[in-house]
Amino acid sequence: MSPPAAPAVKVWDRPVRLLHWTLVVSVALGWLTTFWWFGAHQPIGWIALVVVALRLVWGFAGSRYARFAQFVHAPRAALAYLRKMRRGDEPRHLGHNPLGAWMIVALLLCVIALCITGWLYTTDALWGDATVEMLHRSFAWALLALIVLHVGGVIFTSLRQRENLVTSMLNGEKRAPRDDDVA
Ligand code: HEM
Ligand code: HEM
Repeated sequence: MSPPAAPAVKVWDRPVRLLHWTLVVSVALGWLTTFWWFGAHQPIGWIALVVVALRLVWGFAGSRYARFAQFVHAPRAALAYLRKMRRGDEPRHLGHNPLGAWMIVALLLCVIALCITGWLYTTDALWGDATVEMLHRSFAWALLALIVLHVGGVIFTSLRQRENLVTSMLNGEKRAPRDDDVA
Protein backbone atom coordinates (compact mmCIF):
# COMPACT_ATOMS: atom_id res chain seq x y z
CA MET A 1 0.00 0.00 0.00
CA SER A 2 1.35 3.46 -0.86
CA PRO A 3 2.01 5.88 2.05
CA PRO A 4 -0.73 8.43 2.72
CA ALA A 5 -0.30 11.68 0.76
CA ALA A 6 1.37 14.50 2.75
CA PRO A 7 -1.27 16.97 3.94
CA ALA A 8 -1.39 20.30 2.12
CA VAL A 9 -1.51 23.75 3.65
CA LYS A 10 -2.84 26.95 2.13
CA VAL A 11 0.06 29.33 1.39
CA TRP A 12 -0.90 31.71 -1.44
CA ASP A 13 -4.16 33.56 -0.88
CA ARG A 14 -6.58 34.29 -3.73
CA PRO A 15 -5.41 37.89 -4.46
CA VAL A 16 -1.74 36.76 -4.70
CA ARG A 17 -2.66 34.10 -7.28
CA LEU A 18 -5.07 36.30 -9.20
CA LEU A 19 -2.60 39.21 -9.34
CA HIS A 20 0.26 36.90 -10.37
CA TRP A 21 -1.54 35.40 -13.36
CA THR A 22 -3.08 38.74 -14.38
CA LEU A 23 0.42 40.25 -14.37
CA VAL A 24 1.75 37.35 -16.47
CA VAL A 25 -1.03 37.81 -19.04
CA SER A 26 -0.71 41.62 -19.16
CA VAL A 27 3.11 41.55 -19.57
CA ALA A 28 2.77 38.91 -22.30
CA LEU A 29 0.13 41.03 -24.07
CA GLY A 30 2.29 44.16 -23.54
CA TRP A 31 5.01 42.46 -25.57
CA LEU A 32 2.61 40.97 -28.12
CA THR A 33 1.01 44.35 -28.85
CA THR A 34 4.39 45.78 -29.94
CA PHE A 35 4.09 43.43 -32.96
CA TRP A 36 0.31 43.38 -33.37
CA TRP A 37 -2.55 45.78 -32.44
CA PHE A 38 -0.34 48.54 -31.02
CA GLY A 39 -3.52 50.48 -30.18
CA ALA A 40 -4.02 48.16 -27.18
CA HIS A 41 -0.41 48.53 -25.98
CA GLN A 42 -0.88 51.48 -23.64
CA PRO A 43 -4.12 50.28 -21.95
CA ILE A 44 -2.53 46.87 -21.38
CA GLY A 45 0.58 48.54 -19.93
CA TRP A 46 -1.66 50.48 -17.53
CA ILE A 47 -3.32 47.23 -16.43
CA ALA A 48 0.14 45.79 -15.61
CA LEU A 49 0.94 48.88 -13.54
CA VAL A 50 -2.38 48.71 -11.64
CA VAL A 51 -1.75 45.02 -10.88
CA VAL A 52 1.69 45.86 -9.46
CA ALA A 53 0.21 48.72 -7.40
CA LEU A 54 -2.42 46.33 -5.96
CA ARG A 55 0.29 43.77 -5.21
CA LEU A 56 2.28 46.42 -3.33
CA VAL A 57 -0.77 47.22 -1.18
CA TRP A 58 -1.38 43.49 -0.63
CA GLY A 59 2.25 43.14 0.47
CA PHE A 60 1.26 45.10 3.59
CA ALA A 61 -2.40 44.13 3.98
CA GLY A 62 -2.49 40.53 2.73
CA SER A 63 -2.34 37.19 4.51
CA ARG A 64 0.88 35.89 6.12
CA TYR A 65 2.82 34.66 3.05
CA ALA A 66 1.70 37.61 0.90
CA ARG A 67 3.43 40.14 3.16
CA PHE A 68 6.80 41.58 2.14
CA ALA A 69 7.87 41.52 5.80
CA GLN A 70 7.49 37.71 5.72
CA PHE A 71 9.75 37.09 2.73
CA VAL A 72 11.97 40.12 1.95
CA HIS A 73 15.11 39.92 4.08
CA ALA A 74 18.54 41.58 3.88
CA PRO A 75 20.53 40.69 0.73
CA ARG A 76 22.93 38.69 2.90
CA ALA A 77 20.10 36.17 3.54
CA ALA A 78 19.80 35.67 -0.23
CA LEU A 79 23.57 35.18 -0.55
CA ALA A 80 23.57 32.66 2.32
CA TYR A 81 20.71 30.80 0.60
CA LEU A 82 22.66 30.85 -2.69
CA ARG A 83 25.72 29.36 -0.97
CA LYS A 84 23.60 26.59 0.56
CA MET A 85 22.00 25.99 -2.84
CA ARG A 86 25.44 25.47 -4.39
CA ARG A 87 26.20 22.91 -1.67
CA GLY A 88 22.82 21.32 -2.30
CA ASP A 89 21.54 21.76 1.28
CA GLU A 90 19.24 24.80 1.08
CA PRO A 91 16.16 24.52 3.32
CA ARG A 92 12.65 24.39 1.93
CA HIS A 93 10.71 27.62 2.50
CA LEU A 94 6.95 27.45 2.76
CA GLY A 95 6.71 31.03 1.47
CA HIS A 96 9.11 32.59 -1.06
CA ASN A 97 12.76 31.68 -0.47
CA PRO A 98 15.18 34.61 0.20
CA LEU A 99 16.64 34.49 -3.33
CA GLY A 100 13.25 34.25 -5.03
CA ALA A 101 12.11 37.16 -2.86
CA TRP A 102 14.69 39.51 -4.40
CA MET A 103 13.69 38.30 -7.83
CA ILE A 104 10.10 39.28 -7.00
CA VAL A 105 11.25 42.75 -5.91
CA ALA A 106 13.25 43.10 -9.16
CA LEU A 107 10.28 41.96 -11.30
CA LEU A 108 7.89 44.41 -9.63
CA LEU A 109 10.34 47.34 -9.87
CA CYS A 110 11.09 46.55 -13.50
CA VAL A 111 7.39 46.58 -14.45
CA ILE A 112 7.01 49.95 -12.67
CA ALA A 113 10.05 51.43 -14.49
CA LEU A 114 8.81 50.00 -17.80
CA CYS A 115 5.34 51.51 -17.47
CA ILE A 116 6.59 54.90 -16.24
CA THR A 117 9.06 55.23 -19.14
CA GLY A 118 6.31 54.13 -21.56
CA TRP A 119 4.00 56.80 -20.16
CA LEU A 120 6.77 59.48 -20.22
CA TYR A 121 7.27 58.72 -23.90
CA THR A 122 3.61 59.59 -24.56
CA THR A 123 3.78 62.98 -22.80
CA ASP A 124 4.01 66.19 -24.87
CA ALA A 125 7.32 67.12 -23.24
CA LEU A 126 9.09 63.82 -24.00
CA TRP A 127 7.31 62.55 -27.13
CA GLY A 128 9.99 61.28 -29.51
CA ASP A 129 12.75 61.60 -26.88
CA ALA A 130 15.41 59.06 -27.89
CA THR A 131 16.64 58.47 -24.30
CA VAL A 132 13.17 57.71 -22.94
CA GLU A 133 12.47 55.42 -25.90
CA MET A 134 15.77 53.61 -25.33
CA LEU A 135 15.04 53.30 -21.58
CA HIS A 136 11.55 51.90 -22.25
CA ARG A 137 12.94 49.29 -24.64
CA SER A 138 15.80 48.45 -22.26
CA PHE A 139 13.40 47.86 -19.36
CA ALA A 140 11.24 45.67 -21.62
CA TRP A 141 14.29 43.49 -22.46
CA ALA A 142 15.52 43.52 -18.85
CA LEU A 143 12.08 42.32 -17.74
CA LEU A 144 12.22 39.51 -20.26
CA ALA A 145 15.64 38.44 -18.92
CA LEU A 146 14.32 38.52 -15.33
CA ILE A 147 11.30 36.42 -16.36
CA VAL A 148 13.59 33.76 -17.90
CA LEU A 149 15.59 33.63 -14.63
CA HIS A 150 12.37 33.63 -12.56
CA VAL A 151 10.84 30.72 -14.48
CA GLY A 152 14.23 28.93 -14.37
CA GLY A 153 14.29 29.38 -10.58
CA VAL A 154 10.73 28.07 -10.26
CA ILE A 155 11.56 24.95 -12.32
CA PHE A 156 14.86 24.38 -10.42
CA THR A 157 13.19 24.71 -6.98
CA SER A 158 10.25 22.54 -8.06
CA LEU A 159 12.66 19.77 -9.06
CA ARG A 160 14.78 20.14 -5.92
CA GLN A 161 11.80 20.05 -3.58
CA ARG A 162 9.82 17.51 -5.61
CA GLU A 163 6.85 19.84 -5.51
CA ASN A 164 5.15 21.53 -8.45
CA LEU A 165 5.33 25.22 -7.51
CA VAL A 166 3.31 26.25 -10.57
CA THR A 167 0.39 24.13 -9.33
CA SER A 168 0.81 25.83 -5.93
CA MET A 169 0.53 29.24 -7.60
CA LEU A 170 -2.72 27.99 -9.15
CA ASN A 171 -4.44 26.33 -6.17
CA GLY A 172 -2.55 28.13 -3.37
CA GLU A 173 -1.51 24.89 -1.64
CA LYS A 174 1.86 23.45 -0.69
CA ARG A 175 2.98 20.30 1.10
CA ALA A 176 2.84 20.75 4.89
CA PRO A 177 6.21 21.78 6.39
CA ARG A 178 8.55 19.20 7.92
CA ASP A 179 10.85 19.85 10.91
CA ASP A 180 13.76 21.33 8.94
CA ASP A 181 11.61 23.50 6.63
CA VAL A 182 11.30 27.27 7.13
CA ALA A 183 7.59 27.84 7.74
C1 HEM B 1 5.38 38.02 -17.01
C2 HEM B 1 5.97 37.05 -16.39
C3 HEM B 1 6.01 36.89 -14.90
C4 HEM B 1 6.06 37.82 -13.91
C5 HEM B 1 6.13 39.35 -14.08
C6 HEM B 1 6.03 37.11 -12.65
C7 HEM B 1 6.06 37.70 -11.41
C8 HEM B 1 5.97 37.03 -10.21
C9 HEM B 1 5.82 37.65 -8.92
C10 HEM B 1 5.73 39.16 -8.69
C11 HEM B 1 5.76 36.65 -8.01
C12 HEM B 1 5.53 36.82 -6.52
C13 HEM B 1 4.13 36.34 -6.21
C14 HEM B 1 3.55 37.08 -5.05
O1 HEM B 1 3.97 36.89 -3.91
O2 HEM B 1 2.66 37.91 -5.32
C15 HEM B 1 5.90 35.39 -8.68
C16 HEM B 1 5.91 34.15 -8.09
C17 HEM B 1 5.81 32.98 -8.78
N1 HEM B 1 5.75 32.83 -10.14
FE1 HEM B 1 5.87 34.30 -11.50
N2 HEM B 1 5.95 35.75 -12.89
C18 HEM B 1 5.94 35.59 -14.25
C19 HEM B 1 5.84 34.42 -14.94
C20 HEM B 1 5.69 33.20 -14.37
C21 HEM B 1 5.48 31.98 -15.08
C22 HEM B 1 5.40 31.85 -16.62
C23 HEM B 1 5.39 30.99 -14.16
C24 HEM B 1 5.20 29.52 -14.39
C25 HEM B 1 6.11 28.76 -14.95
C26 HEM B 1 5.53 31.59 -12.86
C27 HEM B 1 5.47 30.92 -11.68
C28 HEM B 1 5.60 31.49 -10.44
C29 HEM B 1 5.59 30.74 -9.20
C30 HEM B 1 5.46 29.23 -9.06
C31 HEM B 1 5.75 31.67 -8.17
C32 HEM B 1 5.87 31.34 -6.68
C33 HEM B 1 7.33 31.10 -6.43
C34 HEM B 1 7.57 30.52 -5.04
O3 HEM B 1 7.10 29.41 -4.80
O4 HEM B 1 8.22 31.20 -4.24
N3 HEM B 1 5.71 32.94 -13.02
N4 HEM B 1 6.00 35.65 -10.04
C1 HEM C 1 3.57 45.47 -19.88
C2 HEM C 1 4.17 46.62 -20.00
C3 HEM C 1 4.90 47.05 -21.27
C4 HEM C 1 5.73 46.33 -22.10
C5 HEM C 1 6.15 44.86 -21.98
C6 HEM C 1 6.17 47.24 -23.14
C7 HEM C 1 7.06 46.91 -24.15
C8 HEM C 1 7.41 47.74 -25.20
C9 HEM C 1 8.40 47.45 -26.22
C10 HEM C 1 9.22 46.16 -26.30
C11 HEM C 1 8.42 48.50 -27.08
C12 HEM C 1 9.34 48.67 -28.31
C13 HEM C 1 8.61 48.28 -29.56
C14 HEM C 1 9.50 48.41 -30.78
O1 HEM C 1 10.70 48.24 -30.66
O2 HEM C 1 8.92 48.66 -31.83
C15 HEM C 1 7.45 49.47 -26.62
C16 HEM C 1 7.15 50.65 -27.27
C17 HEM C 1 6.27 51.58 -26.78
N1 HEM C 1 5.59 51.54 -25.59
FE1 HEM C 1 5.60 50.05 -24.26
N2 HEM C 1 5.58 48.46 -22.95
C18 HEM C 1 4.79 48.40 -21.81
C19 HEM C 1 4.05 49.40 -21.24
C20 HEM C 1 3.83 50.65 -21.83
C21 HEM C 1 3.03 51.70 -21.25
C22 HEM C 1 2.33 51.68 -19.88
C23 HEM C 1 3.04 52.75 -22.15
C24 HEM C 1 2.38 54.11 -22.07
C25 HEM C 1 1.40 54.41 -21.30
C26 HEM C 1 3.84 52.34 -23.27
C27 HEM C 1 4.08 53.08 -24.40
C28 HEM C 1 4.86 52.72 -25.48
C29 HEM C 1 5.07 53.53 -26.67
C30 HEM C 1 4.43 54.89 -26.94
C31 HEM C 1 5.96 52.83 -27.47
C32 HEM C 1 6.47 53.23 -28.84
C33 HEM C 1 7.87 53.72 -28.73
C34 HEM C 1 8.52 53.74 -30.10
O3 HEM C 1 8.05 54.50 -30.94
O4 HEM C 1 9.45 52.95 -30.27
N3 HEM C 1 4.31 51.05 -23.04
N4 HEM C 1 6.86 48.98 -25.46
